[in-house]
Amino acid sequence: MLNYAAAVAFLSLLTPSLTSPALQSNTLISARDACAGNTADTPRKPPETGVTREYYFELLDSNVSPDGVERYAMSINGSIPGPTIYADWGDTVVVHVTNSLADSTNGTSIHFHGIRQNYTNQHDGVTSITQCPTPVGSTITYIWRALQYGSTWYHSHYSLQAWEGVFGGIVINGPATANYDEDMGIMFLNDWDHDTVDALYLSAQTSGPPTLDNGLINGTNVYGDDDHSDQTGFRWNATWVEGSSYRLRLVNAAVDTHWKFSIDNHSMTVIAMDLVPITPFTTNVLSMGMGQRYDVVVTADQASIASSFWLRAIPQSSCSDNDSSDNIRGIIYYANSTDTPTTTGFSFTDSCEDEDVSNLVPYISKTVGDSGWSDSEAATVAFNDDSLFRWYLNSTTMVVEWVDPTILKVYNNETSFVDSNGVIEIDDEEDPAPTTAALLSTSPTPRRDTAMLPASGHLVIAFKTDNPGAWLMHCHIGWHTSEGFALQFVERRSEMLDLIDYNLLNSTCAAWETYTDSVSVVQDDSGV
Ligand code: CU
Repeated sequence: MLNYAAAVAFLSLLTPSLTSPALQSNTLISARDACAGNTADTPRKPPETGVTREYYFELLDSNVSPDGVERYAMSINGSIPGPTIYADWGDTVVVHVTNSLADSTNGTSIHFHGIRQNYTNQHDGVTSITQCPTPVGSTITYIWRALQYGSTWYHSHYSLQAWEGVFGGIVINGPATANYDEDMGIMFLNDWDHDTVDALYLSAQTSGPPTLDNGLINGTNVYGDDDHSDQTGFRWNATWVEGSSYRLRLVNAAVDTHWKFSIDNHSMTVIAMDLVPITPFTTNVLSMGMGQRYDVVVTADQASIASSFWLRAIPQSSCSDNDSSDNIRGIIYYANSTDTPTTTGFSFTDSCEDEDVSNLVPYISKTVGDSGWSDSEAATVAFNDDSLFRWYLNSTTMVVEWVDPTILKVYNNETSFVDSNGVIEIDDEEDPAPTTAALLSTSPTPRRDTAMLPASGHLVIAFKTDNPGAWLMHCHIGWHTSEGFALQFVERRSEMLDLIDYNLLNSTCAAWETYTDSVSVVQDDSGV
């Protein structure tokens, strides 16, 4: 257990520059040249598009069988993954979320992973931090502006609901650091079990992370071996045109699986991590922690080798347990092929580490400590809990209250935060914090919202305190979040007050209180 690596998500804290790199533009159909006025010499802010993209989500109880085995799940508008949110860089996004779950103990919230929420903290969608849960029968509306571009996802931030199926993709169109011919959209990599995650959480708390049954590629896979007549489900597949190039927007949406992703015989050009364009690098195998995204471009240049190829998501046994470890696969067909692939996967070393930082170079470099980094007003807060297995950060495990979210505490001046000097180190067990400046690289460093904390290692995080609000930082392993591996930063507290829409906050909390008066809601986890 202590060797568990942890995927740490900084949510909306770490965000890319608002200026644009010298990037080239792309269309869904064919490559085209760089846009005039969008070069390295003319950095710019997000365009004032004046466009609003409006979405309506309804959470539903659903029976699904993504690998041919039926079970209960929660869906958005009847689908898992839920609808993809599309916007252009600079657009305003409005999402109305209605909780129609029949299960009477479910609140909800929708968090937009990695979205900057600049001065819109209240629309971050994190229960116990930025809102009370939205109860069954209620609707909440989130409004934010797309100040970044690229690939990300949204998910419920209420208990383990995200991994019962309440998640979907976000595509924000903008420049890219390499050209491609076709945008294949979001490709989710999920782990999957025939029991619900709520059922599995009971054993996760007492006996550690359970071995999961299977995995899904964009919501589908087979279950059982290929040569067995009782195999169920079907594989994700796509047909490529020889010579064309394809952009895949990969998202690791697993509850507890670190993936290595590859397409047999094909190399990938990686053009973005999380919502940050990077200087492209090529690899055959891509390592992905929970919550992370990578955008890759793959050219269909292997027609001389075969007519179909396996696409593989391989759970890393160093930190993940899965019964279908070699059978979470899709198929890339060339031309009119329908042949079952016979290709062999690339060799790799089983591990749960991030890609080498030397490859993760943001196209626009920023240096920690430049002007604007010094006026920190950060703080930590966490609460102790009972005897179940819990994760601790700074000697406390997080348990927060659904009915009394942090921003309500701030509004009512009921807080007791510990002020910090702006530097907080997060260490795994047994490794005293290295404090020598020599170990701290300030530039160039990867800039992203989710990073791997190596077992018995450390992770140093810097963020600019330029966005007032209460922000959660947590492990993105679902069990760990629920087990309290989380803390929150309250940033520029004095400025938060002016930003809080009390009517919105209070109406959701009043609805939650009314709801919990009528049904018995038991909080058996951290509350986030
Ligand atoms: Cu997330």
